[in-house]
Amino acid sequence: MAKKLKIINVVGARPNFIKIGPIMKEMKRHPQIDPILLHTGQHYDVAMSQRFFEDLNIPAPDVNLEVGSGSHAEQTAQIMTRFEKVLMETRPDLVLVVGDVNSTLACTITAKKLLIKVAHVEAGLRSRDMTMPEEINRLVTDVLADYLFTTSEVANKNLESEGVAKNRIFYVGNIMIDTLVAFQEEAEKLNTHAAMGLERGNYVLLTMHRPSNVDDPDTLKSLLETLGIISQRLAVIFPIHPRTEKQIQKFGFDEYVQKLENFSASGLGKRLSIHKEKHAVYTCPPLGYKALLNLNMNAKLVITDSGGLQEETTVCGVPCLTIRENTERPETVSAGSNVVVGTDRDSILEQFYAVMNGQFKKGSVPPLWDGKTAQRIVRILLDLYS
Ligand code: UD1
Repeated sequence: MAKKLKIINVVGARPNFIKIGPIMKEMKRHPQIDPILLHTGQHYDVAMSQRFFEDLNIPAPDVNLEVGSGSHAEQTAQIMTRFEKVLMETRPDLVLVVGDVNSTLACTITAKKLLIKVAHVEAGLRSRDMTMPEEINRLVTDVLADYLFTTSEVANKNLESEGVAKNRIFYVGNIMIDTLVAFQEEAEKLNTHAAMGLERGNYVLLTMHRPSNVDDPDTLKSLLETLGIISQRLAVIFPIHPRTEKQIQKFGFDEYVQKLENFSASGLGKRLSIHKEKHAVYTCPPLGYKALLNLNMNAKLVITDSGGLQEETTVCGVPCLTIRENTERPETVSAGSNVVVGTDRDSILEQFYAVMNGQFKKGSVPPLWDGKTAQRIVRILLDLYS
């Protein structure tokens, strides 16, 4: 038998796990490929990491670099140092990275310096906001990677305008949506919203963790006050990222949120009634993929600074208010159900009332966001290496 195509697939942080699941599954269907799953350990809490592997039936990582937290430079350096050793021992034909987290950047640089080819899934996204660590990660990764797999025509154009040769760009669609399509039915059955005492179509789902929103006390306070106003009309459920929880405690903003106690993050927890007359911004621990998808699908609207949720709401047709000044996913605005509202109170409330009054736009799903992206990626890789 001919030599197998050895590919190291890299994951590090929460959104990566959702993207790698369908790729690993598809690679394993082809005996010509020897897929290795490597976790850098950037996210390490059970709630941020392990639960996603279980929830999405992703095989346990073959290698875990266990780098943990640190400043950006520390985290990146640790990943590079440890990944270099793995590459020297394993000598793969290809390293596949996804998304825009520190692990994506660190592993791309390390592989390229050892003359190992790199494929980047979700290439070409640009916010043009150089204060976002993810934008720096995207730019560096795309300059270096050999094969750039894109989600949209906008991403193709971004890369071309930066001088990337067309034969490095492969328009394959959105890998996040493969996972959504695969787990939508199971998520619907979970009934997480009902287990929390939330009525279908009668609550707001909130996620918020970007440094620009949670690291500055004035911005965070203003956002929490605005969300407090919204919660007077609809209960707000807030699965809270560890970064945000730390910041709320540090700034003494606990009064703005109320903990949903006794809720098991698997989505099967004890039923808790959220009293209609006493709404609040309710926090719960970070949720598994399916539980969060259930909350998304059944929400009246979603308020978020996440990239993935902008895409998932577009596919589910749920109104989404993005509390950022820009988005690297413009097709969720031009075609989908997303509006970039910034962090200003009036603009957030204006769009919130538009949703409440039934005046919010209706969206559609962008092309190739169809659940078949992993198949297209693996087919292209097999062709490239045949
Ligand atoms: C990272 C990604 C971001 C992605 C997000 C999703 C980068 C630059 N950012 O941001 O693009 O949207 O993940 O979750 O890679 N922490 C824990 N437990 C964990 C993980 C993190 O307590 O399992 C804490 C860390 O101690 C740190 C903070 O959360 O204080 C931030 O973690 P970090 O990995 O630096 O980035 P995220 O903000 O999670």
